[in-house]
Amino acid sequence: MKPVIYTFPSYLEQGKSIAQSLNLPYYEVKTHHFPDKESLVTVPEIKSDHVIFCLSLDYPNNKLIELFFACETVRKQGVKRISLVAPYLCYMRQDKSFHKEEAISQQIIGRWFSEYFDDVITVDPHMHRVTSLDEVIPNTNNKIISATTLLGEFIKSLNSKPHLLGPDEESLQWVKQVATICDATYSVATKKRYSDVDVNIQLPDRDFCGEHIIQIDDVISTGHTVTETAKQLYSAGAKQVDVIVTHALFTHDAMDTLNQAKIKNIWSSDSIPHNTNTISLTNLLSKQIKLLF
Ligand code: R5P
Repeated sequence: MKPVIYTFPSYLEQGKSIAQSLNLPYYEVKTHHFPDKESLVTVPEIKSDHVIFCLSLDYPNNKLIELFFACETVRKQGVKRISLVAPYLCYMRQDKSFHKEEAISQQIIGRWFSEYFDDVITVDPHMHRVTSLDEVIPNTNNKIISATTLLGEFIKSLNSKPHLLGPDEESLQWVKQVATICDATYSVATKKRYSDVDVNIQLPDRDFCGEHIIQIDDVISTGHTVTETAKQLYSAGAKQVDVIVTHALFTHDAMDTLNQAKIKNIWSSDSIPHNTNTISLTNLLSKQIKLLF
């Protein structure tokens, strides 16, 4: 029996496009929010023993509880296998206690996922000190896929010869791969974060004068990391600064922050729906999902 795709209101277009590319039946999990913000989740009952939930887990708290409600409901309806396709996986950055008594969210979320899901597919999660998803989500068939090839091909299609810059040490893993695809030079800056909205960037020791720079990062959240980096690049004489990012989180005033730095182009993959989306992940995700059945 073929699996069915279920998606949530926040990921409707992408979920539908994945289902259509795989020629799989597609249903929407309906959510209703009561005045006190509790969620009511309705899952259409279908005849399949394998369901694939597709949604990105940005702004995760509501989405997580609704996803877990949906999992419990389909299990009760007799579903045997539940897969999660979450292009953006939440809570991956808190992989240790940065200050005494902080919860290690990554581990906690990972344990919950391993309880609910047989398979988890995600795109370039923010793995830093913990490098394997199997350590985070034990006893689950986990698969990380990378959007770096798509980012690299996109840059190649620009017919420019940019230098690629990662704003911090963590971005090296992505910048390096993107640079290989589009045959570009690359370097990485050093970042110190003092608060959510206060970051200090130190550019690598090279000449940026007259150069076209494309910053590569996995996530833009408040936008302060790439904004601060762009300001410094322009001060160092860069001719043009663009940004390409996999996960366009863009918290509420991120665009205003980014506008302060005269970044020429901001491109993102559609892992999270946003008006900067330029690169579709449908084929990449569909190929991986196909291996599940
Ligand atoms: C963290 O190291 C990530 O790779 C991003 O650089 C970070 O999440 C961006 O955050 P923000 O846009 O809030 O500066």
